[in-house]
Amino acid sequence: MNEQQRKELNQIKENPTDRKSAQDKPLKEKTSADFAKYFETTYQPPSLKNAKKRGKEDVNVHYDFDIPEDIARIGEGKKFLIRTYGCQMNEHDTEIMAGILTDIGYESTSDTNEADIILLNTCAIRENAENKVFGEIGHLKPLKQEKPDLIIGVCGCMSQEESVVNRILQKHPFIDLIFGTHNIHRLPQLVKEAMFSKEMVVEVWSKEGDIVENLPRQRKGSIKAWVNIMYGCDKFCTYCIVPYTRGKERSRLPQDIIQEVRQLAAQGYKEITLLGQNVNAYGKDLDMEYGLGDLMDEIRKIDIPRVRFTTSHPRDFDDRLIEVLAKGGNLLDHIHLPVQSGSSEVLKIMARKYTRERYLELVHKIREAMPNATLTTDIIVGFPNETEEQFQETLSLVEEVGFEGAYTFIYSPREGTPAAKMKDNVPMEVKKERLQRLNALVNHQAAETMKKYEGEMVDVLVEGESKKNPDVLAGYTHRNKLVNFRAPKSLIGEIVQVKVTKAKTWSLDGELVQTAEVKS
Ligand code: 5AD
Ligand code: SF4
Repeated sequence: MNEQQRKELNQIKENPTDRKSAQDKPLKEKTSADFAKYFETTYQPPSLKNAKKRGKEDVNVHYDFDIPEDIARIGEGKKFLIRTYGCQMNEHDTEIMAGILTDIGYESTSDTNEADIILLNTCAIRENAENKVFGEIGHLKPLKQEKPDLIIGVCGCMSQEESVVNRILQKHPFIDLIFGTHNIHRLPQLVKEAMFSKEMVVEVWSKEGDIVENLPRQRKGSIKAWVNIMYGCDKFCTYCIVPYTRGKERSRLPQDIIQEVRQLAAQGYKEITLLGQNVNAYGKDLDMEYGLGDLMDEIRKIDIPRVRFTTSHPRDFDDRLIEVLAKGGNLLDHIHLPVQSGSSEVLKIMARKYTRERYLELVHKIREAMPNATLTTDIIVGFPNETEEQFQETLSLVEEVGFEGAYTFIYSPREGTPAAKMKDNVPMEVKKERLQRLNALVNHQAAETMKKYEGEMVDVLVEGESKKNPDVLAGYTHRNKLVNFRAPKSLIGEIVQVKVTKAKTWSLDGELVQTAEVKS
């Protein structure tokens, strides 16, 4: 660990809650009177100090979501469009918002010019994600000028950040509605307010919400479905904005999750993905001695052919879960296990709470129990003051584990997080060059593992036409490999056997053999 890194680590240790950010700027600096009033009266900025104290109070589960009569048909004859950025959690939230808007009479459209309400469901994880959204907001301005009745709303993770709300209020006052990740169930009321109010409607809670169980939902697709098992994250990795934008960890009750999976199975869905920011922490807040392993052990008995889960944190990945995953069946041979760095020193400053050695031990255990499992990961390069040697440790870890795929990112400072305050001596050029080297290695490993499939038979869940060629069908194997092959469209939604004829870096070409037995 170099001198600068030691200093940063000491600062985090000594002063864990002193995270000065835009949220701490005095209110009087704000220009618009409405804006100041809003922040004084309604808005509580997300603060790490408060966030770190959280977790003690009970989360209430509600089953009584209801749409008031005066709003029930407010969208009749109108159309909605939701643009989704970022992770699966946002896709999940979009399905809920689509369900609510449909319930109040709106119809969905993919044509911007046709929409009466456009919602941008945003992502705050890296700066470029935010830039994309601000770019889109800029593009929508002429449309709003043309159609003053059009409602434009910003929701999702960016709306949980005060600096973003601030910027929209000051620079994009034509936006009608801003609401946070904890306010989705209030959408009917918010749409009504936005329709009739001349002011921008802003509703963002910094306190995390309860769990609302009976929200309507319009699922995208009829083959694969998301099943949220928990909300929020309490890990507080030093670079990450998620614990602030998504709030504290709250697990849904097992019976509610199991009921949802049973319903999806009955409706003919073929694959579900259990979803959460840190699914391995599932159940910790329930005081029930019941974890993800226990939940998966029950779900694997449900008659649904494929079950995945994402995203895992290595720290909470326990032996019980490994034991259950090893039972196989409908539990898929793919584990996405974000490592972030191969250097124990960098992991420490990231507050990941495991070392390189612990991660490798976990991989070893998983491989012993599930010899066929595909392992993929997330990696951040160019964390503040990362040295060439530390980066080399990431490269060597990628080789040692034999990851078959990785989402790789250049570190992006996020306002309000501890890492954003760290001085950084790594020039952007160096970060970019490291990312290229890492990607070259990951691509090479992916291509090598793909080659092993040539001539093999694989079970493919057919998802639809290939993106590049509508005459070709595409789907994924048990080990999460994309396969393209020619077959009748009537097989979409089925699990079929395909013989792999050619391996590419990120996909396999194959020939249909026969309809396979569905794995149970
Ligand atoms: N900069 C770059 N990448 C980040 N991630 C999270 N926060 C940041 C950040 N500030 C990456 C991590 C995480 C994935 C979802 O996004 O790798 O696992
Ligand atoms: Fe962010 Fe994941 Fe760390 Fe939670 S566990 S703080 S979501 S990187």
